Amino acid sequence: MGERFETTTVHIGHAPLRQAESKSTPIYQTSVFAFDSLEEVEKYYAGEGEYLYTRNGNPNQAELAFAVARLEQAEAGVSAASGMGAIMAGLLSILSPGDHVLASHEIYGGTYALLQKELSRFGIELECIVLDEGTHLASRVRPTTKLFFVETITNPLLTVVDLPSWIRQAKELGLFVMVDNTFATPYLVQPITFGADLVVHSGTKYIGGHSDVTCGVLVGSRPLIERATEIVVNYGASLSPFEAWLAARGLKTLAVRMERQCDNAREVARFLQSHPAVSRVYYPSQEATSFFARPKQGAMVSFALRDESEIYEFYRALDWIQFVPSLAGVETSVSHPVTTSHRAFSEEQRQATGITMGLVRISVGIEAIDDILSELGRALGK
Ligand SMILES: Cc1ncc(COP(=O)(O)O)c(C=O)c1O
Repeated sequence: MGERFETTTVHIGHAPLRQAESKSTPIYQTSVFAFDSLEEVEKYYAGEGEYLYTRNGNPNQAELAFAVARLEQAEAGVSAASGMGAIMAGLLSILSPGDHVLASHEIYGGTYALLQKELSRFGIELECIVLDEGTHLASRVRPTTKLFFVETITNPLLTVVDLPSWIRQAKELGLFVMVDNTFATPYLVQPITFGADLVVHSGTKYIGGHSDVTCGVLVGSRPLIERATEIVVNYGASLSPFEAWLAARGLKTLAVRMERQCDNAREVARFLQSHPAVSRVYYPSQEATSFFARPKQGAMVSFALRDESEIYEFYRALDWIQFVPSLAGVETSVSHPVTTSHRAFSEEQRQATGITMGLVRISVGIEAIDDILSELGRALGK
């Protein structure tokens, strides 16, 4: 190290830290990695070294991707700057111009917009279909159909389709299958075990679990993830080290959070089902979730107010349950699909889907259940 003050101030503090054995993963808050020699750089390009530049890869990104891949029983994973970044990488790892995508009609609005508005410009065609008993993928595929896309638990009506059976149908037709498992998490379902090729998460939700990070994770077979990683790198959708660190830290408590949140949600659903101010409760049935790895039905509950005109008063009356247009934090929160995620719906679409003015979506948290019920009861009673 140079001896002058100006040089010392810049270089001090580096060397001792290299020796430190930290119990928790350090945050590699660096945009680039240093090499001891030109030979080391050659090794990196020969595939022997791991890190060069954070957009290409970083230990914090890798930790998160590895952890989610393990939990989902996938071969490999890649993290991205948002759930949408991960979905984009997944779609583009499979699709080329001229390809056709079959997707459930109940997919997240951002996924719909990505396919319908952006990827359509590159000649990729989206077709949304209702996944009910009368639908057979065989009668909907075209010679150009490449991918079937589905969510495990849909938003905001919390529909759960028979995932193993739809995946089986799609695989028999030679399609790739990509599942958005954001709402269920690998605690409840691991779609790879049913044959899905790719599983994607908005890590912003239960993976992180604390509403303090925006990130995405894509997991699946090694060849697809290798291609998806190139796409994340080339499109500049890499996750920042600090966000990756926060998500990996949040992930450690996924099992205990989900257990508590699912149990609380069951009580909330039961409470709402017998409440006179509520006309309908949307909560997955035990039968629909029979393929889940655990006897739980998720941690989200939606309901419709009997008198829609009371909706403004309901939100005003809530005290500590916050109105936020997102979900999956440890705090119970509510959202209002019609004025947020589904604003673009016409009145006709609202009536047809049930996503009406009186619909409330609850993301149930880890608080004491009696407090959650009394807060909801108070707001409904007013
Ligand atoms: C099911 C689902 N998938 C994907 C996304 C997109 O994730 P992000 O907001 O992290 O980009 C969301 C966001 O709400 C979502 O709910």
